[in-house]
Amino acid sequence: MLTRPFHRPRRLRGSAALRDLVRETRLAPGQLIYPVFVQEGKKVRQPIPSMPGQFRYSVDALVEELGAAQQDGVVAAILFGIPESAQKDARASQAYAADSIVCRALEAVRRSLPELILMADVCLCEYTDHGHCGRVVERPGGEVVIDNDSSLELLAEAALTYTRAGAHVVAPSDMMDGRVRAIREALDGEGLTEVPILSYAAKYASAFYGPFRDAAESAPRFGDRRSYQMDPGNAREALREIRLDLEEGADMVMVKPAMPYLDVIAAARRSVEVPLAAYQVSGEYAALCAAFANGWLARGATIRESLLGIRRAGADLILTYFAREAARSMRSGEWG
Ligand code: PBG
Repeated sequence: MLTRPFHRPRRLRGSAALRDLVRETRLAPGQLIYPVFVQEGKKVRQPIPSMPGQFRYSVDALVEELGAAQQDGVVAAILFGIPESAQKDARASQAYAADSIVCRALEAVRRSLPELILMADVCLCEYTDHGHCGRVVERPGGEVVIDNDSSLELLAEAALTYTRAGAHVVAPSDMMDGRVRAIREALDGEGLTEVPILSYAAKYASAFYGPFRDAAESAPRFGDRRSYQMDPGNAREALREIRLDLEEGADMVMVKPAMPYLDVIAAARRSVEVPLAAYQVSGEYAALCAAFANGWLARGATIRESLLGIRRAGADLILTYFAREAARSMRSGEWG
């Protein structure tokens, strides 16, 4: 004989209002950070082929885009500078030049949109001629390495320059050991004690960065990033990276990418009290967009679920190329 179920979880799923009432995780525009690329020129809005709907903007066009994003509910953006290729060199000079493309963009956005929280990605790979995130040094035996310690002063100088240009938050993404402390000391030394550091603490050597490297022209000319970014097989090591960055003075930490590393986000959430960010990276965006373009996945519902999953795993903040669209959908009530 069939027995009637005693437990009926379905009782709480009967209406949209009831589901809303008992929802454990929510999305709000204020949790999103919009990554954007800035390049030279005027009125430039150059499509990025592997990231449909994303563009490389000139400074004027970027101000317009971020103004419109703000209207849609976006409260924070992170800037990536793309210098002219002729300006790239071994010392990544444009990473810390006061008149660099990213500094001019920071100044312009800060002036036109003072309410927007402005973050600056701090790394050398967009600015070095070899495309690595640190300095390349040849050891006496002829071995070529990405040198940790001589990269730190350049990263600290870059963070200082971006702060002076108007960045509210600096976000080092290079994965050199000790860079958070180097940046904190440099900022404090200049009296910039109030500027928070969001460290890309657990950043994996991921295949999902492909479209970003096309967009930023930052693919390494030789070798790969596995000697400094984390091995995708490791989760405990992520906790160590996060702990070290916190000891060095990070105010917020990040796990990157997001969807293939939800376990890492969950573990990080359990071990830290500071705000935790996750980066839904270019390859995650590109893969979803490809499925939308083919009609294989429903756009809005899939974006919402992907962001909800990242939040449910434990991220407080999400860096996502969907930020503007998602904020708009939340605002309009489309997502319930
Ligand atoms: C710079 C940097 C990268 C990303 C953010 N900062 C690329 C990389 O490490 O190769 C990737 C972001 C994305 O894929 O959306 N080091």
